Amino acid sequence: MDLQKMVPPYRIKVVEPIPFLTTEERRRALTEAGYNPFNLRADQITIDLLSDSGTGATSSAQEAAAALGDESYAGARSWFRFRDEVHDLTGYSHILPVHQGRAGERILFTSLLKPGQICISNTHFDTTHANVKLVGAEPRDLPCPAAADLDSPDPFKGNIDLDALEGILTGPEGHRVGLVLMTITNNGLGAQPVSMANLTAVRDLCRRHGVPFFLDGARFAENAWLVSQRESAYRDWTPRQVATAAFQLADGCVVSLKKDGLSAIGGFIGLRDDALHAACEANLIATEGFSTYGGLAGHDLERLAQGLREVVDPAYLRARAASTARLARLINDAGVDTIQPAGIHALYLNAGRLLPHLSPHEFPGHSLGCQLYLDGGIRCAELGSLYLGSMDDQHRLVTPAPFELVRLAIPRRVYTDTHFEYVAAVLADIAKDPERVRGYRIVSSPHLLRHFKVRLAPVEATGTAKSQGVRFTAVGNGKG
Ligand code: F0G
Repeated sequence: MDLQKMVPPYRIKVVEPIPFLTTEERRRALTEAGYNPFNLRADQITIDLLSDSGTGATSSAQEAAAALGDESYAGARSWFRFRDEVHDLTGYSHILPVHQGRAGERILFTSLLKPGQICISNTHFDTTHANVKLVGAEPRDLPCPAAADLDSPDPFKGNIDLDALEGILTGPEGHRVGLVLMTITNNGLGAQPVSMANLTAVRDLCRRHGVPFFLDGARFAENAWLVSQRESAYRDWTPRQVATAAFQLADGCVVSLKKDGLSAIGGFIGLRDDALHAACEANLIATEGFSTYGGLAGHDLERLAQGLREVVDPAYLRARAASTARLARLINDAGVDTIQPAGIHALYLNAGRLLPHLSPHEFPGHSLGCQLYLDGGIRCAELGSLYLGSMDDQHRLVTPAPFELVRLAIPRRVYTDTHFEYVAAVLADIAKDPERVRGYRIVSSPHLLRHFKVRLAPVEATGTAKSQGVRFTAVGNGKG
């Protein structure tokens, strides 16, 4: 083995202290937060795995570039550096900057989708889903069948179900399909990658049926790395070559650069079509900013242009993938299952299987997330019935989510393997005595975007959920 390949291609020059609270301080903090980790303050958190978005560390080269930021209102030098970098990477003739991914989604969908149309995806991210609905269109997810088996080692569980896609395009609803949007990697389904073969087949189907095909490329570099590792036809390609080839398959893209842009803020829309570009540009100028800054400062554009060069470095991607895979091994060895195989930007814990004593009404994913905070000051996000289940007017769960998961998102270049050993050790302690993890019930909840503002309380030993007389033992353990 080439030992150098184990080593991240950077060392750490600027550090930020992280807080260590006592058990009692954490208990009080979580109570005051209404048992919702979104309400915690950053200075109450030891290891923050809530999101990999905008949370990465920048490099010295990015900070040096930022000092050259040109803040001219129009036509800034920084804009041209950014535009040229994105153009070289993607090949799209039109590039529009936006402050983050969802701004790009809103502008694109407003210009492209009509009310009543269907937007098909392998899986829409939640803001993408919301932005499709906001224009009166219908988001529809068609994940491939392998995605339903959390334990299967299938290398491309992020793929779309091609048969189902073709079925809709050739069926009675075919004329309603306004867009096919492929999310790479598939954040909603376990950070699983999408193969180039799948993207090519989607391109062919869309061409045949005259439907626009776009990428949601928030993690385009991580998808490209996994393709180069798992898809034999691309074994000798660099991640940058794979990424460019993926963008080239599509008619355009919307990209949050808070992930693989290695920056705190930013995004872009890439387009080929002149008329669509004109419509999006008008919307951009009215709502985000002039088309040479799109809500970003010159120094942001500089950091992004440099970040886009660094993110496709094979040494960086190899080390990041290896670090996530190592954390997955530690967690699995401790007896906690994660969606297989490990992706790169996040691990998804199978809380339903770890906590069979909790029914979906007691939100096992949320319960595990709270326990990780109470025991170790670790913050993460539930992806289970609290987030995805449907509720009645009294905020009682009516339809549970298919799985009870917890996402541990991994910020880029921020935590070392020692931090991850700590995370695994905290989880291992929970796995030794999972019965001590209590369930939760909703105290108050907004009707929209529930998970951000919901407040909860621990279920007492007598258990409100159990007193409803409903047990969903078969749901959420991933065994189907
Ligand atoms: N698409 C995907 C696949 C995403 O994961 C996100 C954001 C967006 C679009 C929206 O981009 O945040 O820049 O507006 N994901 C973050 C996360 C928030 O934690 O997964 P944005």
